[in-house]
Amino acid sequence: MTARDDRQEFEENKVKQSAALGQDHAAFDQSLSLVTKLDEYDYSYLWSWMGVPIIQMPADVMATQEIIWSTKPDVIIETGVARGGSVLFMASMLEMIGNGTVIGVDVDIRSHNREAIENHPMSKRVKLIEGGSVDIGVLEEVRSLIPEDARVMVVLDSDHSRDHVLAECRAYGELVTEGCYLVVADTLVGHVSKENAPKKRSKLWYKGNDPLSALQDYLSEVDRFEVDEVLNGKLVLSSSPGGYVRCIR
Ligand SMILES: C[S@@+](CC[C@H](N)C(=O)[O-])C[C@H]1O[C@@H](n2cnc3c(N)ncnc32)[C@H](O)[C@@H]1O
Repeated sequence: MTARDDRQEFEENKVKQSAALGQDHAAFDQSLSLVTKLDEYDYSYLWSWMGVPIIQMPADVMATQEIIWSTKPDVIIETGVARGGSVLFMASMLEMIGNGTVIGVDVDIRSHNREAIENHPMSKRVKLIEGGSVDIGVLEEVRSLIPEDARVMVVLDSDHSRDHVLAECRAYGELVTEGCYLVVADTLVGHVSKENAPKKRSKLWYKGNDPLSALQDYLSEVDRFEVDEVLNGKLVLSSSPGGYVRCIR
């Protein structure tokens, strides 16, 4: 007896439940409260990708895996490299797919972090640029590394101040190609008051000076992106709910 093929039904249920979860404000508030509690333990600093620290919540790594697999970009640009885990994670996805390059931009690539990235088995798919993400020279270098007709995805995970993220959205948003994603990290702080803002950061980010308000401003300026309500809907215990937007034209 052959089992009934229920894959379509399974996928449809995922979409339905993810969208429904995105409307469940009580669940979101509980998640926010738990993430705030977990931050006392530096929760987003506790993980590694293939031996290298990745400063992410596991849910965001999973969400990024889903969009890389489904969109198969030729180039992924990430601002904010830190210790290298996220560029190496995305590079390993591209390596499994068999195509693509990650361009990592950071204002301060410390020698030990550069060494760890450059000596990693996935480094063959990584190009590092040191400099401020919206500096003209850096943007020129980034553009020069993108082949003609490449499918391009962008992840913004550097300085999370509203003005900086808005400047990054304007500079990098236009590089994202149709069907690919722009990911704005740490949108969760857009739900946090100044008093409750995470304190163990280089700067204080909170509602009003945060990536989510920058993204919302950017989305009101351009008509090329739509919020992926299904993907964002299931992003509880995530740093970046609402931060995953798809380029539609
Ligand atoms: C949150 S960490 C990045 C975490 C990394 N994406 C990961 O998942 O492991 C932020 C990084 O942004 C960098 N940064 C801060 N301001 C920047 C700027 N103006 N341009 C580029 N990088 C910047 C910092 O040096 C730091 O390494």
